[in-house]
Amino acid sequence: MNIIIKNNYEEVSQVAADFLLNTVKDKKNAVLGLPTGSTPIGMYEKVVEEHKKGNVSFKDIKTFNLDEYVNLDRDNINSYYYFMNSNLFSHIDIDKNNIHIPNGMADDVEKECMEYEEKLQSSGSMDILFLGIGINGHIGFNEPGESFQTTTHVTHLEHNTIEANARFFDKLEDVPTTALTMGMKTILSAKKIVLIATGENKANAVNEMVNGKVTPKMPASVLQLHNDVTIIIDNLAASKLN
Ligand code: PGA
Repeated sequence: MNIIIKNNYEEVSQVAADFLLNTVKDKKNAVLGLPTGSTPIGMYEKVVEEHKKGNVSFKDIKTFNLDEYVNLDRDNINSYYYFMNSNLFSHIDIDKNNIHIPNGMADDVEKECMEYEEKLQSSGSMDILFLGIGINGHIGFNEPGESFQTTTHVTHLEHNTIEANARFFDKLEDVPTTALTMGMKTILSAKKIVLIATGENKANAVNEMVNGKVTPKMPASVLQLHNDVTIIIDNLAASKLN
């Protein structure tokens, strides 16, 4: 794993944005895998700034998002559809037909997962996939204990994930308990993976991911099995690295 340690969130966001922008500048029809959460917001801001300067176009870029809650309408401010639109897609020149986010409102969510995976695989491998990490080590919504063999699937969120995400909702009971997520097999199929993390609350998970045993108990440890992973973290998230 290639590890880049920066001083703060701002610098982490800039380095991550540069990875994204360089991929798009090098390959006009690149396929990007994209995350949500608080961590990538700064990266998206910098990507949007660069687009507004006229330095990069997303016209032929395809995107696939990592995950989505079940049963949150696209207009719900906590849906990942809404997040992506307000933080990135509505500010760039991407063709809306090239945006893919699992549909958590589908009548048959299992079928939706199968179709999502098929669409992703038939678009060619993701040229680059960006990830965050949960304090429990989840990537996407692959929670501790889930198999490393999964493709896109329906998953039930751990209590501590629900608690961590409650900050965005009015009350804990409003946080969905089910989500659709790319599986570990899907994640490992990306050509290049970039994981970003900041803050002390991620330090244990970051250390386990890098130095711990490869085990479904620590989902992000699966990244040790991929040959092109870059971790971009700040000093605080790096503070427990051996
Ligand atoms: P965060 O979420 O960026 O909001 O910390 C990361 C994750 O849970 O994957």
